[in-house]
Amino acid sequence: MKLQVFAILIFGFLSVQSHAAKMREIKQLLPAEAWIAKQTAISIEKLAENIHPAGTVPGVVVASPQRANPDYFRHWIRDAALVMDVVFDLHERAQSPKERQRWDSLLKSYATFSRENQMSYALTGLGEPIFEVNGQAFSGPWGRPQNDGPALRAITLTRWAQSLLDRGEKAYVLTHLYSSALPASTVIKADLEYVSHHWGASSFDLWEEVRGQHFFTMMVQRRALVLGADLADRLKDPQAAKWYRQQAKALEARIDSHWDASKQQILATLDRVEGADYKHSNLDVAVLLGVLHGSTGNYFKANDGRVLLTVEKLVKAFKNLYPINHRSGVPGVAIGRYPEDIYAGTNFDGGNPWVLSTLALAQHCYLMAQEHAGGNQKQARRWLEAGDEFVQRVQYHANPDGSLSEQINRHNGYMVSARDLTWSYASFLTAVWAREKSVQMLKQK
Ligand code: NOJ
Ligand code: NOJ
Repeated sequence: MKLQVFAILIFGFLSVQSHAAKMREIKQLLPAEAWIAKQTAISIEKLAENIHPAGTVPGVVVASPQRANPDYFRHWIRDAALVMDVVFDLHERAQSPKERQRWDSLLKSYATFSRENQMSYALTGLGEPIFEVNGQAFSGPWGRPQNDGPALRAITLTRWAQSLLDRGEKAYVLTHLYSSALPASTVIKADLEYVSHHWGASSFDLWEEVRGQHFFTMMVQRRALVLGADLADRLKDPQAAKWYRQQAKALEARIDSHWDASKQQILATLDRVEGADYKHSNLDVAVLLGVLHGSTGNYFKANDGRVLLTVEKLVKAFKNLYPINHRSGVPGVAIGRYPEDIYAGTNFDGGNPWVLSTLALAQHCYLMAQEHAGGNQKQARRWLEAGDEFVQRVQYHANPDGSLSEQINRHNGYMVSARDLTWSYASFLTAVWAREKSVQMLKQK
């Protein structure tokens, strides 16, 4: 008996000890700007390493190099599109013809691979969320279809097509990216036809868990159609342009219905059909991601009052939820996917903060700084500082070599789940480019 009590005490002591020892220490952090400069180079390099790595066919973007627990060595349509969108931005920012050529050729392989994906047999057609690194559709049990994929892919390829047209590459665009022919024979056209005819159907959300009607999915579908209509006009396909615009307009009514005036919150999902049924708050960082990736013009932009109220709720919820957010002396707040989340990468023991969610909050603050840069400078600076806090929060959790995984352990602050998540690096770059722009706008004043 006594021995048992002793054993329990010792065991308890040891586990507290090891927990404390394992807690990420609060070190002196580099100032945000210095870290950002270093981390930008690292993120570009790490992101590029996950495009067509050894053992994959050209055009593949692996979600992570990790092959087990969890196995992310596959091409997710969503992750790949978001990453290649950043590659397009890298192209636009390139300093030399050689560098431009590097990104252009990756985009070309991605477009070819995407068209092959569209034409291969898949359980749910263009809504198929994942392809193997040899180009075959993933056929294991999964939440499918995921209809944000074709929309995100169309957005990325349409932005690139516009740039190719500016550069006189019309023949390539017409042959490979967009031609008016029906049934569609080009990658963008096929995606736009799919989106414009299927946006009203339920599909699985970006977290692959709930089938229903999602704010994120519809926001990116709408943007794909808006950008697609402009491209169709430019390539003399006016009937298609008209149809895409009509569908974009029709989508707005459905998207608007996600605002819940009594809760003062944009609801992530309506009309749930199947899948996870425990997301009672309907509060999800997916809503902010929908704004970041789906907003055009004034439609649900960063400073929309509905967006601001939802974001405020998100921050409050995660601040209370994660033990790591109760530590003093750490900048900012670590943000997860949604409060009821249980997916920890290797198990379902409870949700964690995510790198890409925390950086989405940073990006939102920088967009707000841009909004105020021309008017209330003080306000703009405050948003800039708020953004830096989220960036510094990621800095605090990042591995010393700058590598970023998918998640941050909510207890000890170490990186967990898939290592070198490509989307984590993409989200870092989009956030800091928004920061760069806000700083430039402030300087011009
Ligand atoms: C893997 C998905 O990628 C993740 O988002 C989800 O939470 C789990 N499966 C559980 O469905
Ligand atoms: C799980 C995430 O929930 C999903 O959004 C993502 O596409 C996959 N992991 C791959 O990164």
